Amino acid sequence: HPPKYQMEESSVLRRANCRAKGGAPGFRVAILGAAGGIGQPLAMLMKMNPLVSVLHLYDVVNAPGVTADISHMDTGAVVRGFLGQQQLEAALTGMDLVIIPAGVPRKPGMTRDDLFKINAGIVKTLCEGIAKCCPRAIVNLISNPVNSTVPIAAEVFKKAGTYDPKRLLGVTMLDVVRANTFAEVLGLDPRDVDVPVVGGHAGVTILPLLSQVKPPSSFTQEEINYLTDRIQNGGTEVVEAKAGAGSATLSMAYAAVKFADACLRGLRGDAGVVECAFVSSQVTELPFFATKVRLGRNGIDEVYSLGPLNEYERIGLEKAKKELAGSIEKGVSFIRG
Ligand code: NAD
Ligand code: LMR
Repeated sequence: HPPKYQMEESSVLRRANCRAKGGAPGFRVAILGAAGGIGQPLAMLMKMNPLVSVLHLYDVVNAPGVTADISHMDTGAVVRGFLGQQQLEAALTGMDLVIIPAGVPRKPGMTRDDLFKINAGIVKTLCEGIAKCCPRAIVNLISNPVNSTVPIAAEVFKKAGTYDPKRLLGVTMLDVVRANTFAEVLGLDPRDVDVPVVGGHAGVTILPLLSQVKPPSSFTQEEINYLTDRIQNGGTEVVEAKAGAGSATLSMAYAAVKFADACLRGLRGDAGVVECAFVSSQVTELPFFATKVRLGRNGIDEVYSLGPLNEYERIGLEKAKKELAGSIEKGVSFIRG
């Protein structure tokens, strides 16, 4: 017998039937790295998402404990846990959306690129599983360094013959969430603010476009310098405050759920779902770049151009592209050898 918390197919079908009667759509979502600092609150929040009918929680440690715990929440989604590489295929089969926060986080003094050595291999293995078991799933990649792990994922999928650039998205949502929050020092309510953040997800590659903030606002150069620096170094601010205990987990889980929910609303067919993400792109000469994208039934329906930039942002863009080019190349060569 499976453990009590491990719901059987009959339970899944019973719940699916109940939901179908209510006309509610349901998507199957897997979280890889579900027992981690991001994974646990992310799993909890996804269990609360009414668009999720089945939630698979995979990790190499402690997946049964997290699954047992979350399975007691009286929300609609059915939860199942998967532990260790031998259960990866079962975790992935049939999934519509796969969210990946697996991998090691930074400690003070490290850059995100310092994580490449360990996380590149983890992302490669997980993406090989996706290519085999759910090649049509939308992939939300959180593991750092995102600027390199997204190219790694793309190369793995290309090698397997399953690559669809519309379905692979590097999660940069936390940069937008931070930008919206930090704008409060200027008297703006974070709930009403939308700052596009483009480029990538590390240091100078994080490029907030404050000239395009909604509602339209004008900032002094001093305010722009303060905000740009704080947004670019928001991750380091948390890493230092946690003093060796890891990097952002709770705000990241919040951002990941905001982004995953947008992907699911797109899959459902909602109109006008637009968020920033690091994706395959022709907006610049680089093969990947973060900009606003419109999400639809097939993943990315449209990649938006940068829009008008001021002189400060144009200089920032050149710096961002220079660093991004190296990070993308590093990810590509990791697979191509
Ligand atoms: P964590 O160490 O708390 O959790 C990571 C989890 O991944 C652990 O439970 C671990 O067992 C699991 N794991 C390790 N190898 C695995 C494998 N092969 N398969 C499945 N699971 C595996 O770390 P965290 O704080 O949750 O951060 C996870 C990653 O997310 C880090 O790389 C971090 O840098 C990144 N991150 C990205 C963003 C972003 O904005 N994109 C924000 C915060 C953190
Ligand atoms: C973040 O922006 O918080 C994450 O990328 C984690 C980190 O290492 O800073």
